[in-house]
Amino acid sequence: MAEPVQTPQAFPTRIFSGIQPSGSLTLGNYLGALKRFAQKQDEGIETLYCVVDLHAVTVWQDPARLRQQTREIAASYIASGVDPKRSILYNQSQVTAHAELGWLLSCVARIGWMYRMTQFKDKSGANAENASLGLLAYPALMAADILSFRTTHVPVGEDQKQHIELARDIAAKFNHDYKTDFFPIPEPLIEGPATRVMSLRDGTKKMSKSDPSDASRINLTDDADTIAKKIRKAKTDAEPLPDTVEGLEGRPDAKNLVNIYAALADLPLAKVMEEFAGAQFGTFKPALADLAVAKLGPITAEMNRLMAEPDEIDAILGRGAERADAIARPIVAQVYDIMGMIRSRQV
Ligand code: AMP
Ligand code: TRP
Repeated sequence: MAEPVQTPQAFPTRIFSGIQPSGSLTLGNYLGALKRFAQKQDEGIETLYCVVDLHAVTVWQDPARLRQQTREIAASYIASGVDPKRSILYNQSQVTAHAELGWLLSCVARIGWMYRMTQFKDKSGANAENASLGLLAYPALMAADILSFRTTHVPVGEDQKQHIELARDIAAKFNHDYKTDFFPIPEPLIEGPATRVMSLRDGTKKMSKSDPSDASRINLTDDADTIAKKIRKAKTDAEPLPDTVEGLEGRPDAKNLVNIYAALADLPLAKVMEEFAGAQFGTFKPALADLAVAKLGPITAEMNRLMAEPDEIDAILGRGAERADAIARPIVAQVYDIMGMIRSRQV
């Protein structure tokens, strides 16, 4: 289903992506991000996956909770198939290149670019003057996450597209200003039927860990009964399912459930339509609930097993950080050099 990754530039293919430890993960994170991260690793490409704790603190985080959630995201990565031996899995704050390059790139990026980010507008709300400076600058740090490794491809969900475009603009402006081709222009990888999983209560809104209604989402920590109940109660319309993909147009709630089914089953949408043509939701919803429980149950169980051994998780993150640091440190040193900073310290 996913298109083979092509490297447009003369840089080795390298994949980087990150998830914020700012709440429990949802089915949207799993289908839009985690599941695809594991697939990329299985394609034999170099993959780096990060728990972006420096991003999380752009809004207030209780320290004890941040620690717990960082481990939980690490556990979710592993339970979803990211293998810490084949991928580099770590938390952002343990690799100083992120913060260093983040500063340098915030001097390349323009303030106006930041104000245009829809996520900043959404998150800062009516009182933008009172948002943290970090929340505004965050896309420059995200660009640094990607460019610290001279990453060529970034798998993300649809909501991150604007930030990746900004990272491309920042890379291009750096290359232009310093007359170099040092940074690749990173490509977003937004593919498959679930790049935007929608709320179970409103098919026009993104499924989000910050939605006040727990019924709007499936959490990776939900048990089988909760998953089945949420799917049974999911909003739908009164019509039976159509027999073609086109027939779903204008039916956002129905479309969302069918997309989720296709993504969980690894089936093309058209195949799912064939299978359920003319079915009532009374038939489709139990089938979807069974599938979701079958796919998510083992992930939740593995997460719980891992979470019982926090020291083991911390050790994995530490080893990943060592490996990430070995790649990023020389890259950032070259950036300092390109920008004209003296590097004479003996180490
Ligand atoms: P976040 O939870 O905002 O740190 O997002 C982590 C990753 O999950 C990013 O790649 C997002 O694009 C992706 N993601 C978050 N919510 C959804 C959703 N509802 N559907 C698809 N992908 C999502
Ligand atoms: N901003 C992303 C989100 O909120 C997380 C993220 C941080 C990220 N740095 C990244 C994603 C670098 C891809 C690449 O979901």
